[in-house]
Amino acid sequence: MSERKRVRKGVFPAAGLGTRFLPATKAMPKEMLPIVDKPVIQYAVEEAIASGIDDILIVTGRGKHAIEDHFDHSFELETILGERGQERLLEMVRQVAGLARVAYTRQKKALGLGHAVLCARDLVGDEPFAVFLADDLIVGEVPAIQQLIDVYNETGATVVAVQRVPRDQVSAYGVVAVKSSDGRVHEVEDLVEKPKPEKAPSDLAVIGRYVLVPEIFPILEETAPGAKGEIQLTDALRQLARNDRVIAVEFEGTRFDTGNKLGFLEATVELALAREDLGPDFAAWLRERCSAIAGGRN
Ligand code: UTP
Repeated sequence: MSERKRVRKGVFPAAGLGTRFLPATKAMPKEMLPIVDKPVIQYAVEEAIASGIDDILIVTGRGKHAIEDHFDHSFELETILGERGQERLLEMVRQVAGLARVAYTRQKKALGLGHAVLCARDLVGDEPFAVFLADDLIVGEVPAIQQLIDVYNETGATVVAVQRVPRDQVSAYGVVAVKSSDGRVHEVEDLVEKPKPEKAPSDLAVIGRYVLVPEIFPILEETAPGAKGEIQLTDALRQLARNDRVIAVEFEGTRFDTGNKLGFLEATVELALAREDLGPDFAAWLRERCSAIAGGRN
């Protein structure tokens, strides 16, 4: 057997319009919305780095300069912090710029997630790669993408992250039909985009982490626009699953859908509570607030 290539590159599609967060996302990319004090996309970049990914490839669109600036040096800010002797903050902003090698490519029109992934083709080349939808913030002991990479390393197959969701919520997701399962690892027979609950083949919803093989690119090129007139990654994966092995991994960890307002608020509360510097004071305030709500005084 020829040696399997290592997953070294991570693609971050970030060219969506973020309509669910208007007006905040009118002039600011939704990937830059902070959870406590860190932009959503930085959590995913840190997850990639913790999983051995060296190259971060971000697919941006119009009005996304803030992402590029965020992962670059800010000489003015660094100079001022240095002059003021604010060493801890200086260290923090330098650390963000030094996190990883970051390259950008542009999706000129928001033609869908599948199209955004296709835009990264030249940067990825002929090797397996990870895809991160930064909206899905996942916290846990082992980074979610590492759990997928482990399965890729064993099998060489395409791997998608899945999570069980209540039946009445399946229509918000891509859902997998399973051939066979071994614990939390499932062989995928088919994928269905946003099925009606009664038509859903399972309750295993695809979450925004993937390890893809380069064979996905020619399929994406041939994929016609589907739902919402967009080129859907799910449609290309579906095509791939006809001839190739696709595996779904029920990752361990807690996932927040920060692309919708409720998920964003939940992530903010959970991550604030987990912070050593903020957690205790925030918890005290929250307890009081909760007992007021319970007493009907909200
Ligand atoms: P979403 O379905 O969350 O769409 O995209 P969106 O436009 O970002 O947000 P809403 O629904 O309008 O609020 C899933 C992921 O695919 C990327 C998004 O940036 C997000 O990471 N995407 C989507 C692109 O990069 N290009 C596209 O054309 C569409």
